[in-house]
Amino acid sequence: MFTRGISLAVLAGVAVAEWTDPAVLDACGGYTLENPQTQGSTFTADLTSAGECAVYGKDIPQLSLLVEYETDTRIHLKITDASADRYEVPEEIFPRPQASGNASAETAAIQFNYTENPFAFTIYRTSTSEVLFSTASHPLIYESQFLHVKTSLPDNANIYGLGEHTDPFRLPEVNTTRTMWNRDAYGVPNATNLYGDHPIYFEQRTTGSHGVFLLNSNGMDVKLNTTEQDGTTLEYNVIGGVLDFYFLAGSETSPLELTKQYADLVGKPAEVPYWGFGSHQCRFGYKDFVDVAGVISNYSASDIPLETMWIDIDYMQGRRIMTVDPDYFPMDRVREIVSYLHEHDQKFILMTDPAVAVDEEYGAYARGTEMDIWIKQPDGSATIGLVWPGVTVYPDWFHPNIQEYWDNEFTLFYNPEDGLDIDGVWIDMNEPANFCVLPCTDPYEQAVNQTLPPPRLTSPPDHDTPIFTDAPAPRRKRADNLLNPEYEIENAAGDISSKTAWTNATHANGLVEYNTHNLYGHMMSTTTQKAMLNRRPDVRTLIITRSTFAGAGTSVGKWLGDNLSTWWHYRNSIAGILGFASIYQIPMVGADICGFGANTTETLCARWAMLGAFYPFMRNHNGDTSISQEYYRWDTVAEAARNALDIRYRLIDYIYTAFHQASLDGTPVLQPLWFQYPSDANTYPLDLQFFFGDSVLVSPVTEENSTTVDIYLPEDVFYDFTTFETIQGNGSVVTLPEVGFTEIPVYIRGGKIVPLRIESASTTAELREKPFELIVAVGKNGTASGSLYLDDGESLQQSATSFIQFDYQNGLLTANGTFDYQTDLSITQVRILGVDGNVTATSEDGSALSTSTDGDSIVVPLDLPLTGPFTLNFGL
Ligand SMILES: *[C@@H]1O[C@H](CO)[C@@H](O)[C@H](O)[C@H]1NC(C)=O
Ligand SMILES: *[C@@H]1O[C@H](CO)[C@@H](O)[C@H](O)[C@H]1NC(C)=O
Ligand SMILES: *[C@@H]1O[C@H](CO)[C@@H](O)[C@H](O)[C@H]1NC(C)=O
Ligand SMILES: *[C@@H]1O[C@H](CO)[C@@H](O)[C@H](O)[C@H]1NC(C)=O
Ligand SMILES: *[C@@H]1O[C@H](CO)[C@@H](O)[C@H](O)[C@H]1NC(C)=O
Ligand SMILES: *[C@@H]1O[C@H](CO)[C@@H](O)[C@H](O)[C@H]1NC(C)=O
Ligand SMILES: *[C@@H]1O[C@H](CO)[C@@H](O)[C@H](O)[C@H]1NC(C)=O
Ligand SMILES: *[C@@H]1O[C@H](CO)[C@@H](O)[C@H](O)[C@H]1NC(C)=O
Ligand SMILES: *[C@@H]1O[C@H](CO)[C@@H](O)[C@H](O)[C@H]1NC(C)=O
Ligand SMILES: *[C@@H]1O[C@H](CO)[C@@H](O)[C@H](O)[C@H]1NC(C)=O
Repeated sequence: MFTRGISLAVLAGVAVAEWTDPAVLDACGGYTLENPQTQGSTFTADLTSAGECAVYGKDIPQLSLLVEYETDTRIHLKITDASADRYEVPEEIFPRPQASGNASAETAAIQFNYTENPFAFTIYRTSTSEVLFSTASHPLIYESQFLHVKTSLPDNANIYGLGEHTDPFRLPEVNTTRTMWNRDAYGVPNATNLYGDHPIYFEQRTTGSHGVFLLNSNGMDVKLNTTEQDGTTLEYNVIGGVLDFYFLAGSETSPLELTKQYADLVGKPAEVPYWGFGSHQCRFGYKDFVDVAGVISNYSASDIPLETMWIDIDYMQGRRIMTVDPDYFPMDRVREIVSYLHEHDQKFILMTDPAVAVDEEYGAYARGTEMDIWIKQPDGSATIGLVWPGVTVYPDWFHPNIQEYWDNEFTLFYNPEDGLDIDGVWIDMNEPANFCVLPCTDPYEQAVNQTLPPPRLTSPPDHDTPIFTDAPAPRRKRADNLLNPEYEIENAAGDISSKTAWTNATHANGLVEYNTHNLYGHMMSTTTQKAMLNRRPDVRTLIITRSTFAGAGTSVGKWLGDNLSTWWHYRNSIAGILGFASIYQIPMVGADICGFGANTTETLCARWAMLGAFYPFMRNHNGDTSISQEYYRWDTVAEAARNALDIRYRLIDYIYTAFHQASLDGTPVLQPLWFQYPSDANTYPLDLQFFFGDSVLVSPVTEENSTTVDIYLPEDVFYDFTTFETIQGNGSVVTLPEVGFTEIPVYIRGGKIVPLRIESASTTAELREKPFELIVAVGKNGTASGSLYLDDGESLQQSATSFIQFDYQNGLLTANGTFDYQTDLSITQVRILGVDGNVTATSEDGSALSTSTDGDSIVVPLDLPLTGPFTLNFGL
């Protein structure tokens, strides 16, 4: 009845992409909707198969449809198997959002509508009837290991998200496949699945922004294509789980509303400690403790701020977590480094991987084996892989005792008394990664050839370990093919078990890796956060992970993985950080500055040090075979880093305020230009410029050896951050002619008030002693506003905070809000941009203040305590 598609050429190590003619899928009979029932905000119906399709296995004959208006801006649509349980993302991993309780179709901003036969549904905007999502003419396919939903989109649709990827921020609307299958992806290649899984897309139109989230952790291909027959379409091809969609109305005027709605769904990002915004230094390949101490000394000798020193797996004995190499990184000497850092108000972070080396004599393994907390093969033996330390097992983050295990390991090894007193954690290889090449019949044999030093191999684990007996019995025996489902997602690593834990491995709760693979890094993240809080219950922690799932921002930050020292990766990092900070709600994000793999060049590293100063998470990190790239290694890079760090450090309170706001409501800390100019369609494809916070526009030079850059400026007024010169944008591209190798173009958007520290410092502790300056960048209509949040920088429970709102209008600058944070600091200077002529300034009591000009700005020295409201009159 159907024609199976053509098998594409099989390349060594590449997925066997089975291509099915879209016409074959569209010819399937789909389902018929029956028994529709509306009750309050909920609609339910039965869906009955209207003809066998069996394109990738048997069709499920009876489905249940549930549609709920959860809030006035969110519709939940779920389709499940009516007669059997299917895997769903566990509630404990992804707590379901609460319905508002008073939403209804009558009041909602978006509507659900359907046709009965064949069943198809539409989501449209209430105010305009504009269709946002429609499955018409593309039948639903629901098989045991293949789910297919396809929607029509407008021509040239502006689709963002569906990460993690290194594709352009605005996804190409032709021939794009976004595969979700978390993968150790060295070199972060284009157009492949990478470390994280974020099945959310935002769509931007001149008429508004909306979003679609599919809550599903199984492997999937999401395809965006444009063909003569169908126009532009987006389709989901999923190999398990259920269809669990959330449609977000967004807004007709502001994409920021959409980001907040997504934050309500996946959770608001955790606040990070103030020091987290300082400059971080790391590399793979620090030789020994002397090398590490030298880097710390060289930074201070070069007068370049260094907030946090990191060490990669080099410190470990035989690359085993929770150990130090007694010869190269002896405990007492590394402790000396940690003490030195702490005495100098600096911080210390170490890498921690999930995989634990198999060796009965090794504490972390012996204790885990005793607790029986490794992920299992269906026969009850621990699933084994090959990672940095050789043959390993993988902690089962679902195990009821896993937190106890991980807390204990952290307590033992990261103990301030006799271990390493870390301030944050870096977690890696948590896709989970595996070096063992399929068929991987014997990781021990492959380990023999592992060239990574020093693989110490011991005897295999006891394969007779009994299966976890407390696991609840599944309602129906699982007949799925957990290794080779018929529909093969386009996993760049090949088979779904390739370079990761076996997908037939079982968790203590009975769930299989096939379904939960994409959750592994996320669960390591939440477990690690709890282990850190167990060590230091009162302070926020900084955890940076590689692998993520939707909602990871509630516990961790993220770095973009193993990029290369190339101009392409430098440029592409902007789309990467925008994805995480402006869409996925994981704002503490950065790429490896100067590049991880391959060798950097002086000018690439100089440009990257400056771009990286505007990543929320700023870390220089390097590969073990690459030339050294600390900023002080070249004069140009050192100067570029000093210049950019001077700006970054002065802006830390500004970005810290943005993080606080994000933690309250999901307002993004980085913004693509279209978030601020949503009706200007020229901004939709831009991903080489971005807003750092909502007021600072960053437009780096993007080409090698170039000292010019073409930038787009919307119709608005901007001010140069350094010269304060007024720059009138008029909705066109302008060329900046002379951008030296130690400069980066940074503008303040008119209409914003930016609080800054009056000068930079070598550590954030020192910075917090400096007074503030207020920059009032007057907008087109003569007004400006901004805010400043103050707290102690690290406590989880703040006893007293200040949130100060600044407004400028009709020549009056006011500060108002809450002022509970105790501080002796004051605003010692106000700088006004964009006003001409004679400015007089008078304080509240009527006394005149002196004014002077500095470049194109007017400066008013004063002394305004940050302990109460104030008003200044500029006589304008
Ligand atoms: C809802 O769907 C029905 C059946 O296709 C159609 O007749 C009706 O016009 C739709 N309503 C809206 C508002 O789109
Ligand atoms: C679509 O992309 C794939 C993978 O990049 C490529 O091999 C193929 O040639 C492209 N097809 C078309 C029609 O552009
Ligand atoms: C997009 O459509 C073209 C033309 O039908 C087809 O060759 C290509 O494989 C499709 N790409 C994807 C990603 O489905
Ligand atoms: C990745 O894609 C970009 C833009 O399409 C291209 O410039 C770059 O060369 C590609 N990189 C690689 C390694 O193919
Ligand atoms: C899981 O799959 C692998 C690969 O086929 C196989 O070697 C292993 O025995 C399987 N586990 C069990 C116990 O079925
Ligand atoms: C290990 O290396 C040896 C020598 O190069 C080779 O003969 C053998 O096939 C390799 N084994 C594996 C499992 O790759
Ligand atoms: C980087 O430079 C070093 C020293 O010149 C050289 O040994 C190494 O091969 C280079 N690495 C790459 C990836 O080019
Ligand atoms: C940049 O300049 C260097 C040194 O002159 C040269 O080797 C390199 O090829 C240039 N790159 C480009 C893209 O022109
Ligand atoms: C001035 O413009 C800002 C930003 O566009 C806007 O929020 C504000 O309401 C405007 N104020 C007046 C008085 O027009
Ligand atoms: C500050 O806000 C409070 C509460 O809204 C208001 O009563 C007070 O007048 C405001 N003060 C100033 C100086 O604007």
